Amino acid sequence: MINNYGSWLHSSQLCEVKTMKKKIILITGASSGIGKETALALAKQGHKIIIHGRNPEKTKKVYETIINENGNKDIDMYTADLSLMSEVKKFANKIIEHYDHIDVLVNNAGGQFGGTREVTAEGHEKTLAINTLYPFLLTNLLLPLLMKSKSARIVTVASESYRQGGKPIYDDIELERNYSLFKSYGLSKLYVWWIMRQFATRLKEKGINNVTVNTVEPGSAITSLARVSMKKHPLMLIISILWLPFMRSAKYGAKTSIYMATSENAEGVTGKFYGKCKEKNINKKWLSEEGEQKIWDFCIHACEPYLTRNEILEEVSE
Ligand SMILES: NC(=O)c1ccc[n+]([C@@H]2O[C@H](COP(=O)([O-])OP(=O)(O)OC[C@H]3O[C@@H](n4cnc5c(N)ncnc54)[C@H](OP(=O)(O)O)[C@@H]3O)[C@@H](O)[C@H]2O)c1
Repeated sequence: MINNYGSWLHSSQLCEVKTMKKKIILITGASSGIGKETALALAKQGHKIIIHGRNPEKTKKVYETIINENGNKDIDMYTADLSLMSEVKKFANKIIEHYDHIDVLVNNAGGQFGGTREVTAEGHEKTLAINTLYPFLLTNLLLPLLMKSKSARIVTVASESYRQGGKPIYDDIELERNYSLFKSYGLSKLYVWWIMRQFATRLKEKGINNVTVNTVEPGSAITSLARVSMKKHPLMLIISILWLPFMRSAKYGAKTSIYMATSENAEGVTGKFYGKCKEKNINKKWLSEEGEQKIWDFCIHACEPYLTRNEILEEVSE
């Protein structure tokens, strides 16, 4: 059964939404924080929810909480380490095997690391892998499934921190020479926003109008996000303590994701950046068509072994 979702706490009532009819919704990083709250709320609306987590026990707990709290038993669960592109591919294959279409993909999983550069087993800087490369690859791999929906939405959780990474360093995207915690997190979120703008543009150019692509930022929410960075970077610990009074709950942080995933008001909206359930004013200095293309090309190159040909990636051979 589908509820008409009630109003939320924004005084402006911007997040008041009338939701779409039953949808199949995949949410990554639903084992805690904003992803968990997004999954709980969307399950409450009555949709079929596919939750993804990295840790099987944590994800199972959320799975059980959703079923016990709101009685929606139409929940599936998967686990995968999305910082590894080989795992993203396996995860996408499982989704493709099990579902004939998907209506909403929420790219929520994300991470923040310490003051010293770390790489994944596949050799990518960890922040870039989990915040930029996986949303690029997963979105590409699931695009054919999304295109089978009458009206599909891709919602990617970025961050206001895109302004804190400084200028893109195109000859050092993996930050081998220029790593810092703030640069890696900020730039990875700028890049993923740009990638999602590229998806929106390319879909429009191909005349594919049944899939929209938007980016959201949740504001500052108390979650597990900074648990590693606070331990490994003293400045992050100090900033987090000072910032604590201004932080909101994970439930609050999830509002714009939920709104963009199912609100009828967001139907047809594409290529936008939303926060507090409304389009954000963007300073044009953060936008660069040339930059978007460079990051897109970089992602294609980095993910090439795992990509398959689709309408958006005509340049990639099978
Ligand atoms: N909290 C904020 O103030 C804030 C502000 C701006 C943007 N964001 C963004 O919001 C999104 C959700 O973060 P959150 O604040 O809710 O943090 P969180 O509580 O740490 O949740 C992050 C989720 O992503 C999953 N994840 C992390 N690394 C992963 C990996 N390698 N493979 C698979 N899953 C992985 C986590 O799994 P585990 O449970 O196993 O760790 C968890 O489910 C992120 O994209 C974050 O960058 C948050």
